[in-house]
Amino acid sequence: PVLVVDFGAQYAQLIARRVREAHVYSEIVPHSMPVAEMLAKRPAAIILSGGPSSVYEDGAPQVDPALFGAGVPVFGICYGFQAMAVALQGEVSHTGLREFGGTQLSVTGEGGVLLRDLPEEQSVWMSHGDSVTAAPAGFTVTAGSPGAPVAAFEDLDRRLAGVQFHPEVAHTVHGQHILKRFLYDVAGIEPTWTSNNIIDEQVEAIRARVGNKRVLCALSGGVDSAVAAALVHKAVGDQLTCVFVDHGLLRAGEAEQVEKDYVAATGITLKVVDASRRFLDALAGVTDPEQKRKIVGREFIRVFEQAARELEAEDHVEFLVQGTLYPDVVESGGGTGTANIKSHHNVGGLPDDLKFQLVEPLRTLFKDEVRQIGAALGLPEEMVMRHPFPGPGLSIRIIGAINEERLAILRAADLIAREELTAAGLDRSVWQFPVVLLADVRSVGVQGDGRTYGHPIVLRPVSSDDAMTADWSRLPHELIAKISTRITNEVREINRVVVDVTSKPPGTIEWE
Ligand code: XMP
Repeated sequence: PVLVVDFGAQYAQLIARRVREAHVYSEIVPHSMPVAEMLAKRPAAIILSGGPSSVYEDGAPQVDPALFGAGVPVFGICYGFQAMAVALQGEVSHTGLREFGGTQLSVTGEGGVLLRDLPEEQSVWMSHGDSVTAAPAGFTVTAGSPGAPVAAFEDLDRRLAGVQFHPEVAHTVHGQHILKRFLYDVAGIEPTWTSNNIIDEQVEAIRARVGNKRVLCALSGGVDSAVAAALVHKAVGDQLTCVFVDHGLLRAGEAEQVEKDYVAATGITLKVVDASRRFLDALAGVTDPEQKRKIVGREFIRVFEQAARELEAEDHVEFLVQGTLYPDVVESGGGTGTANIKSHHNVGGLPDDLKFQLVEPLRTLFKDEVRQIGAALGLPEEMVMRHPFPGPGLSIRIIGAINEERLAILRAADLIAREELTAAGLDRSVWQFPVVLLADVRSVGVQGDGRTYGHPIVLRPVSSDDAMTADWSRLPHELIAKISTRITNEVREINRVVVDVTSKPPGTIEWE
C-alpha cells in the first residue's frame, strides 16, 4: 500500500481517496506509528499529510529521520513537507508570511518531475504559518509562492519530494496531476488498483475466510449491504442467503428493486420477510422521533433474528456479512476486527446463541469505490447511485404518527420529487433530498372552485460531503416550481409545498 501518515487534520482521508482515484491502493496510519511498523507494511510509498500544528510547537508531531533512509519514496504535504524539511536538516522559519486559501505558485526552472510541463504560474491551495526557507541538502527547489520561498522540492536520487500546498483539494488546479507524478514517476508505482482488481482480491479473501460455511446477510435496500452481499455471492455463491426485512417504510419502488432487480442482477438467494404490518402496529400512535427509531431498531432485530433462526434450523450459519466502510474503520481508531455498526441494522444486538463471525468485504473501501464496484458487478444503476437513506425510513419523515394513508401520501410526493430531480440531471449534485410530510399540520388552500384543508409537504434538498455538515441545495427555481405543481396536482391531500433553506448546523438533514 501507499501509507498516508495522518498528522491530525481533516486531510488524510482526502489524500487517501485521491491516491485511490489514481488507481493506487492507500491506507491511513497514525503519525504515532513507529517507523519499523510502517515499514513492516511494505509500503510502496509514504505520504505525510498536512496537520494543524507548527513544527516548532511543543509536542508537535515529528518525523523520525529513519523514515527517509529506508529506500521508500516519501511525499510530504503542507505540515508533512515542513516536518520532512526539519527531519532532513533543512530550515523552517516563522517568517510571518502566512498564506491561507488560493495562492499563486511560481514554478522555478524546469519544475522537476512534479511540475514539469505545467503552467509556470498556477493556483494552489495553501494553509500555513511557518515556511520552509532552505531545502535540505540534495534537494532541488522547484517552486515558490509569495509567502513560501520554498513551496516544492524533490530529491530524485532518494525518491523524496514535498509541496507546501495541498494537492488533494479541488482548489489546487493541477493537484491530482502532481500527486500522480509523485506516485507514478517519482515512486514508480503502477496504477493497478481498479474495480476489477478489487473484486478479484476480495473474492479470493472471502473464499479463504469462509471456506464451505454458510453466510447470512441482511439487505437494507442501501448501497453498502447490496454491494457487500453481491461480492460475497460472487465468492461463495449459494452458501450465502440474504434476508430482506420489508418494514413497509421504504420509498416507492424500493422494496421491488431489492426483490426483483437485485435478485435478477445477482442470482442471490433472497428470503423476503414482509413485516410491514408488524412495524406499523408497533409504531401506531407514536410521534416521538427517538421512540420511532428505537421501535424500528427493536422490531428489525426481532424479525431478523426469527429469520436467522429458521435458517439455522436447516443448517448451521457461521458468518454474517456487514457493509462496514473504510471511513467507519478509520474513525473508530483504525480498529482491528471489532465491527463498528452505526445504523439501526445493528445485528450485533442478536442473542448470544446466534453468534456469527463477521465478513466485511468493504472494510478497506470508500463510498465512491463501493459504488464503482457495485456497477462493475452489474447491480442496477438506481441502486448503486442511490442517495443515503435513514434506517428508520419514512417513519422519521412523517412528522406525527405513522399510518398507511400518510405513508402513501408521502411516497407519492417523494416519487415526484425524485423523478423531477433525475429528469433535471441533478441527482449527483445533491447529496440527499428528503421529502417530509407535516402530517399534523393543515392549511387552507383553494383548488378548482373549492376550498381545501390539506397538508404541507417540505422539500429538503441538501449538498454535503459526509452528512456531518450540509447546506441547502440551490435548486433551479423552475425545477422547484415543477415539483410543486406536480405534487399539488397529483397528490390530492397536499395543497402546499415549502422548501427548507436551513443549513446543518443548525438544522439536521432529517426533520426528526
Ligand atoms: P441528520 O438528520 O442527523 O442525518 O443530519 C445525517 C445522516 O444520517 C442519516 N440518518 C440516519 N441513518 N439511521 C440511519 O441509518 C438513523 O436513525 C438516521 N437518522 C439520520 C440521514 O439520512 C443523513 O444521511
